[in-house]
Amino acid sequence: MDTLMKVYDKAIESHLDRHCTFVALGGGVMGDICGYAAASFPHGVNFIQIPTTVMAQADSSVGGKTGVNHRLGKNLIGTIYQPQSVLIDTDTLNTLPEREFASGFAEIIKCGLVADAEFFAWQERNMDALMARYPDALAYAIKRSCEIKAEIVCQDEMESGLRAILNLGHTFGHAIETSCGYGEWLHGEAVAVGTLIAVDMSYRLGWIDNSVVERANKIIKQAKLPTRPPANMTAEMFKSAMALDKKVADGVLRLVLLKGPLGNCVFTGSGGHTGVP
Ligand SMILES: NC(=O)c1ccc[n+]([C@@H]2O[C@H](COP(=O)([O-])OP(=O)(O)OC[C@H]3O[C@@H](n4cnc5c(N)ncnc54)[C@H](O)[C@@H]3O)[C@@H](O)[C@H]2O)c1
Ligand SMILES: [Zn+2]
Repeated sequence: MDTLMKVYDKAIESHLDRHCTFVALGGGVMGDICGYAAASFPHGVNFIQIPTTVMAQADSSVGGKTGVNHRLGKNLIGTIYQPQSVLIDTDTLNTLPEREFASGFAEIIKCGLVADAEFFAWQERNMDALMARYPDALAYAIKRSCEIKAEIVCQDEMESGLRAILNLGHTFGHAIETSCGYGEWLHGEAVAVGTLIAVDMSYRLGWIDNSVVERANKIIKQAKLPTRPPANMTAEMFKSAMALDKKVADGVLRLVLLKGPLGNCVFTGSGGHTGVP
């Protein structure tokens, strides 16, 4: 919120008007805050995303979700506002610290799990090349993730159903981020653990077989992401943080879980399967 105010301060002091264009150069935090500023100053100006992290290139710069965090919960304030364009140069990833680099893969893995078994299998074969930052492998993984996200968002921009499947692992993940204070756990690290909790739950419900559980655990380890929640986090902490999740509709917690062969998922409580195209 404080940073957002600084953006408005600068825009007003610089006499910018509705004909200006905002450029978000940086990671997902930059894209989210700049997009939100662009959506609201003065009543919406053009903006361009130039994402420089795996997270932002493979996920957050596409789809138009913008916003800022509130101390009581992540992503509680925001709007959907599309950029005029997104420019991605994977060379920028060369300077990204290891932990930040790995973090983005949680979303890439998620795309395979919810929508594209073939892409998931490609990742299994290429995860070592991806971790070694081979440019061709990175370009393909990011391009395919953007395509999957764009296909889904085109059908359901306002998240009345289908788009929710992109939240696999996020309800549990946001609980970790909120309970640990932003910054302790990176978004992708929390999503990685959240995804494995969702996978475990899907298995306990009898919706997926053990091979999916094993493959999900293995690929998340290969991507150098954590597989277990913070040691000090109790079930009560999960419950109270999850109660605030914006997907709580009429007091019912709705979750994205896997069901059937890899690449298929459901959004619980939506009165039926949220099938994938
Ligand atoms: N809008 C969406 O749809 C969406 C989707 C996923 C995630 N998000 C949000 O994105 C945020 C996470 O994004 P992130 O992982 O990019 O984190 P981030 O924006 O915090 O960037 C990570 C760090 O890397 C630095 N950095 C950026 N580019 C670099 C580069 N090329 N070389 C070296 N350092 C670089 C940044 O300064 C920062 O310190 C979370 O707040 C999450 O909620 C939004
Ligand atoms: Zn995410």
